[in-house]
Amino acid sequence: MARPCSITTGAVMGINKLLDGKALASELRAEMATEVRNAVAAGARPPGLAVILVGDDAASQVYVRNKQRACAEVGIVSVPFLLPVDTSEAKLQALIADLNGRPDIDGILLQLPLPEGLDSRACLDAIAADKDVDGFHPANMGKLALGLPGFAPCTPLGVLELLKRNNIELDGKKAVIVGRSNIVGKPLAMLLGGKDANATVTLCHSGTRNLKEECLKADILLLAVGRPKAITADMIPDGCVVVDIGVNRLPDGLCGDVDFEGACAKASAITPVPGGVGPMTIAMLLANTLKSWRERLAQEKG
Ligand code: GUN
Repeated sequence: MARPCSITTGAVMGINKLLDGKALASELRAEMATEVRNAVAAGARPPGLAVILVGDDAASQVYVRNKQRACAEVGIVSVPFLLPVDTSEAKLQALIADLNGRPDIDGILLQLPLPEGLDSRACLDAIAADKDVDGFHPANMGKLALGLPGFAPCTPLGVLELLKRNNIELDGKKAVIVGRSNIVGKPLAMLLGGKDANATVTLCHSGTRNLKEECLKADILLLAVGRPKAITADMIPDGCVVVDIGVNRLPDGLCGDVDFEGACAKASAITPVPGGVGPMTIAMLLANTLKSWRERLAQEKG
């Protein structure tokens, strides 16, 4: 799909930088592929990721296909489990328990949303925390809150990597996040406000009194609202870095949470949708899987 605003037209409109997650994710996959290739050539077993998809949700099928394709590029063995929509929770839990014990599996991905009738929280909690490469297990969320090593969720990790690799300073900056989901907003607030990133974070949500006023204080504005073009140009301060985490499906294609055309006139840097945060999320899933694999290989040796 053609981007509504390219680097060239952006420069005319005042954009300094398009934060290209697609290109960066491709670079990261190449780096990871080299690591896996070298380790396997030296006799290590390849990394393994179990991918569980229950039901036939069309968007989930696309996500899972993209994740499997990315795994193949890096040399991660993805093991698919495509289960019918009427799968019982007991059966799903039994599969997860089996995967928890398998030595060839370093990570377990349970694609969300699950069909109605299945308890997502209970199923996610059943995944062993040390194979939870999505970073959704309460133990990993707790570790993130405490600043301890563990798996952080992939989208927030991808946002941080995208900012870091584009030399966008976070230390001492005011980061305003809109959206407090468990998968994006909350963990992103913890990462950005942690000692490494060292930003000052405001977490806005549906109860925020004056959203525009909060947004206009941002050095970095991060949007995970889930509504197309919910953030308009008048809510974006001049020179702000805009990270659009929204993925909204419209009849003519994907669209973010930001009015991209309007934001182009204000932002110093901005992520496109598609091609911004989305590819980085998948790259971080691969990175988390490799992290688990490295730790597991070390344990297998020692
Ligand atoms: N559904 C939408 N995004 C995600 C994700 O990052 N992980 C999983 N497991 N399911 C999702």
